[in-house]
Amino acid sequence: MTESHAAAPGPVPTSPGSAPQAGAGDAAAWWRSAVIYQLYIRSFADRNGDGLGDVAGIRSRLRYLSDLGVDAIWINPWYPSPMADAGYDVSDYRAVEPAFGTAEEAAAMIAEAHRAQLRVILDIVPNHTSDRHPWFQAALAAGPGSAERERYLFRPGRGTDGEQPPNDWLSVFGGSAWTQVGGQVSGPAGGPDGQWYLHLFAPEQPDLDWTHPEVRADFEETLRFWFDRGVDGFRIDVAHSLVKAPGLPDIGGEPVDVHTAAHGDDHPHWDRDEVHEIYRSWRALADTYDPPRVFVAEAWVDSPERLARYIRPDELHTAFNFDFLRAPWLASQLRDTIDRTLTEHAAVGAPPTWVLSNHDVARHVSRYARPQTDRPVRSLAELSGQPADLELGQRRARAAALLMLALPGGAYVYQGEELGLWEVEDLPDAVLQDPTWERSEHTDRGRDGCRVPLPWSGAAPPFGFSPEGSAAQPWLPQPAAWRDWTAVAEAEDPDSFLSLYRSALHQRRDHPALGDGDLTWLDSPPGILLFTREPGFQCQVNISSGPVPLPAGARVLLASDALSPEGDLPADTAVWLATEGA
Ligand code: NOJ
Repeated sequence: MTESHAAAPGPVPTSPGSAPQAGAGDAAAWWRSAVIYQLYIRSFADRNGDGLGDVAGIRSRLRYLSDLGVDAIWINPWYPSPMADAGYDVSDYRAVEPAFGTAEEAAAMIAEAHRAQLRVILDIVPNHTSDRHPWFQAALAAGPGSAERERYLFRPGRGTDGEQPPNDWLSVFGGSAWTQVGGQVSGPAGGPDGQWYLHLFAPEQPDLDWTHPEVRADFEETLRFWFDRGVDGFRIDVAHSLVKAPGLPDIGGEPVDVHTAAHGDDHPHWDRDEVHEIYRSWRALADTYDPPRVFVAEAWVDSPERLARYIRPDELHTAFNFDFLRAPWLASQLRDTIDRTLTEHAAVGAPPTWVLSNHDVARHVSRYARPQTDRPVRSLAELSGQPADLELGQRRARAAALLMLALPGGAYVYQGEELGLWEVEDLPDAVLQDPTWERSEHTDRGRDGCRVPLPWSGAAPPFGFSPEGSAAQPWLPQPAAWRDWTAVAEAEDPDSFLSLYRSALHQRRDHPALGDGDLTWLDSPPGILLFTREPGFQCQVNISSGPVPLPAGARVLLASDALSPEGDLPADTAVWLATEGA
């Protein structure tokens, strides 16, 4: 990558441009093999110099993304939002947040992405709106018993004066999942009116009532709005939370972490069976488009079996595979996760996806930099106190990338992982913005450490994230050490992370064995993963053994690190091999 790859902003087209055509095979099934780049808009590229990423910034880096070799981009919410939860509190689902750009810029970016053979996936947030959404403001103003309140979950409190929350549900960000009217952060002035409202996340994110027909109709309208503008699909935020048990019963028992705990098949607000009916109607809607639009579910559910229910043939197309993300760097755990994933996806005919990091979890370089135990982890809070060996974490992350990109199905790359970036663990308290920090009473530093703006070029912050001479600093400070990890620095180094990702993504696209399909495991010693894919491809990952010889007759296509002088595969290294006759 060189700076000259940044495309100059061009004229604003009036149409969304046609969706890219897939190379070989069924173009409508592009999503079965796709590698999708997660673009966290706030932190990707800032073109207007305010320290916050924007749509024009995305557009200026499309060339970088197509050179990288990904098939699509998924953009985190770009809608108008008071940003109580970094855009996951939406106040208007059919517009673009002014700090990110305009509708015209969005249209131009979508059209240009399509011309660069990149599909565009947006993020829909159906569980909750912002408390500034006109519906919630109307509900507050209209008062108890009004029709306006029925689109949300308002209830009277418990206790003699209704001074206790209506049930024992907890917010994912800490504390009760209920706020009493009058105690909310914004809205008409006035004291409590006897009602509380549900928010599984921050108080600024009131939960919608999905039994209300207007809620259903309005979201379908939003899907159509963006599909009509050329958007190729949606990532569905907390797809497993929309439906709540009638009567909103107590959960009882000890509070549990939503992302790590089992919640079974009759939890009052997670993964309820009734949610599937909503996705059947979304699928029917997406199928009316040509080419059909696609969905990926964010669903933190108990098991691959429960996840597979979201991707039955008449429901969503794919779902994030968080079991893989959470698996420790241990051969037995990875093998087990891969096998269960493949089995459960095959049972419903859906392609698996593989993912190592996203904007909600500690970057995997930093997770792999710690001693690996049987326990799945995702957050920094779970890792704190354990010393980090970042060099080891990066070595493992390189091997993990080759493993992930060799597995059957699609994959997600979280921005910056292609540069080998690590979690920024020493952000000053004063800059933390994740609501988790406040809601946990400063016990959990939250997710800001994986959201630090990308380093593109140069030797000092803002590392090309913002234009030269910008008055504003990046919204989170970048570590000085990222001077050696910028896209430009790495593009010039054939041994860099970026070169490895590019090479892997381009080989993956060209190799007939990779992408959708299946794999066959070969016998291997403990600590090693070894599988073949036809025609003529093998992947060997040495997770924790001493150096192991490569299979006889195999030719190295790509290695995550140098082989030993004897030509053996060292620990924490992966290779892609062409087998005899290939
Ligand atoms: C999941 C999103 O990925 C996360 O960032 C957000 O805080 C919650 N959903 C609430 O919308």
